[in-house]
Amino acid sequence: MALFGKKETISNALPENLPKHVGFIMDGNGRWAKKRGLPRPFGHKEGAKNFKKIVRYCKDIGLQNISFYAFSTENWQRPDDEIHTIMDLFREYIVDVRNFLSENTRMIFLGDKSAFDEDLQEKMIKLEEDTAHYTEMTLMMAVNYGGRDEIAHAARILAKKAVNGEIHPEDITEQSISNELYTKGIPDVDLVIRPSGELRLSNYLIWQCAYAEYYFTDILWPDFSPAELDKALIDFDNRHRRFGGV
Ligand code: FPP
Repeated sequence: MALFGKKETISNALPENLPKHVGFIMDGNGRWAKKRGLPRPFGHKEGAKNFKKIVRYCKDIGLQNISFYAFSTENWQRPDDEIHTIMDLFREYIVDVRNFLSENTRMIFLGDKSAFDEDLQEKMIKLEEDTAHYTEMTLMMAVNYGGRDEIAHAARILAKKAVNGEIHPEDITEQSISNELYTKGIPDVDLVIRPSGELRLSNYLIWQCAYAEYYFTDILWPDFSPAELDKALIDFDNRHRRFGGV
């Protein structure tokens, strides 16, 4: 056990064996706002603030790969004002991310960027390019993301390669599919954290979560604190993972 006693938010003794990839489903923003009699977009603003806090904390404790479900392929069905708020928050945070993260964090967007306004797409691509060489931590944000959509996208790429004669259908393996996913080169998810009391994956990194452990809590995302993350990491450390073996 490594002690992180000094920093204000790190009160617990954290395990040395941290998950290689933690996936966060940032759920409960709408309910957080409703409980306070505020409009739903307000909850997203608080959720985005908390995203920043949790990302910083993840970096402090040495997590290497973290991913956040920020906008799913299904979220376009939400009311316009809510979608606008989330898009504005993306814009703001994409610019801000360089300030709130110290150097050495690589940033990757998971999902189909083509649905976003062109300026936003350019900002995302520029951020990915500018940070591609950083190695301390990889921060992934899933935007216009759906797990099934990602697998279908990979299948289309492999099918095109087969039609062009670059590969044989027999060459298609679990590894070659993984190599065409948005998370290429990133370890599979070890731990999924979903606040807000919902007990489901909601199409998040379904391929990469094949052997993930799950941590659910009733706390709503804007209230999910570093101390809660400590709890999840300690809980993960106590799980016995068999990966299909005995
Ligand atoms: C789920 O809560 C949350 C979302 C669909 C959006 C998440 C977006 C943000 C946190 C803001 C933008 C993010 C960044 C990182 C800049 P919900 O609305 O489904 O909550 P509910 O289940 O209580 O209705």
